[in-house]
Amino acid sequence: MSVQTSQNTPKRLFIKTYGCQMNVYDSERMRDVLRPLGYQPVDTAENADLVVLNTCHIREKATEKVYSELGQIKKMKEAAGGKMTVAVAGCVAQAEGAEIMRRQPAVDLVLGPQAYHKLPEMVARASRAVGERLETEFETLEKFDALPKAREADGPSAFLSVQEGCDKFCTFCVVPYTRGAELSRPVDAIVAEARSLASQGVREITLLGQNVNAWHGAPPEIEGGNEWSLGQLARHLSKIGGIERIRYTTSHPRDMDDDLIAAHGDTPELMPFLHLPVQSGSNRILKAMNRDHTAESYLDSLRRIREARPDIALASDFIVGFPGESDQDFEDTMNLVREVGYAIAYSFKYSPRPGTPAADMFGHVPEEVKDERLQRLQALLREQQGEFNASKIGETIPVLVTGKGRNPGQMHGRSPWMQAIHFDAPDHLIGQIVDVKVVGATLNSLTGEYATAVEAA
Ligand code: SAH
Ligand code: SF4
Ligand code: F3S
Repeated sequence: MSVQTSQNTPKRLFIKTYGCQMNVYDSERMRDVLRPLGYQPVDTAENADLVVLNTCHIREKATEKVYSELGQIKKMKEAAGGKMTVAVAGCVAQAEGAEIMRRQPAVDLVLGPQAYHKLPEMVARASRAVGERLETEFETLEKFDALPKAREADGPSAFLSVQEGCDKFCTFCVVPYTRGAELSRPVDAIVAEARSLASQGVREITLLGQNVNAWHGAPPEIEGGNEWSLGQLARHLSKIGGIERIRYTTSHPRDMDDDLIAAHGDTPELMPFLHLPVQSGSNRILKAMNRDHTAESYLDSLRRIREARPDIALASDFIVGFPGESDQDFEDTMNLVREVGYAIAYSFKYSPRPGTPAADMFGHVPEEVKDERLQRLQALLREQQGEFNASKIGETIPVLVTGKGRNPGQMHGRSPWMQAIHFDAPDHLIGQIVDVKVVGATLNSLTGEYATAVEAA
């Protein structure tokens, strides 16, 4: 009979992720850092040994969700006789760590986005109930250096964080405060991570950053020359065997430089999809937002990108009801949307965030006006999204097969333009790029027919 010690008993780890892809990436890295300590991911908080909420502070609703979830977790912790460690990570942790501890005593530790490499040590200390319980220093490079080099890939598509933080200080946004100053990871570290992913079957990487197109770095020594921008990084990564698709998100219009635009024309691995948030179509509002671009300069960038890559699909974020937004300002946004024609876009009602300049501006827009504007904008965006998806019907397109669909025999995959697509095909195609004929489209996905003849050939 084998005797199990606490050392080799697997411990149950539950991580819940809110917010942006950066948090999705960070959650994966927290799993990596905890794996050597015997933590195995589970998909419910009930009976977990360690629960991590990786939180988002971007809008008030996002933050409130965290406190209500913590209320539920407190009950589970009580039911488990207190044998559960509860950690709050991410942007709410960074912004209001001390308040979380005060409002919810069930929380054992709080750590900001730059402190994940310290998680094992903090968890160990929490279980002994000694030492610091709050870790919200900004040490971005230290975090990347200290996280385990080995990553466990989960499927053929993976995120790769190349840049963190933001120096733009848009007046509505908390990110510069929660993620700290803009910082680019060095080329070598990014290439090593991309290679490790490729060797595990990853075919598509999405480069992540709050301002990913502000990424810049020294070229590898053997290549020499001037500092690289994101376009050069993408070209370099495209040469790694196995990496067939490259994406990046999220970009800022101001950093859409000529070389990155050119890369869309000369690097077929760079997928024809660009998420370039504009926020508003009114120059007056863009100025009050401190966006540092105008509607015209944004449209000019899009024109040049379309020249380089005519089939590029465009995506954006919008905020309606920013303080001082008049009916005319909102109409300017609607007109910009009509002019561009988006494949997909995300739109939000302005939410005042404590400590940001816009929260103290005059002219806050009544909630019902925000509601009405959001509905009109979303109706237009939905129409464009539906049209964009329908425009692919009849085309045979290259699809990265990402996994099994809901029904037997069904697979799901992704088009070059980020659309989800479902089709019947054999399992062994997962991780391959195959030709699929688009036969149907809805608002959110495509349906296709996999040409078996191609497989037989
Ligand atoms: N770094 C990216 C996105 C950051 S947050 C960029 O610069 O575009 C994602 C989106 O949330 C933003 O693009 C914006 O549309 C929205 N957002 C940010 N702060 C907000 C606020 N206070 N109220 C409503 N929406 C907000
Ligand atoms: Fe926020 Fe603006 Fe920075 Fe984007 S660029 S993260 S919206 S401050
Ligand atoms: Fe939210 Fe932080 Fe991302 S505030 S959107 S999780 S950077």
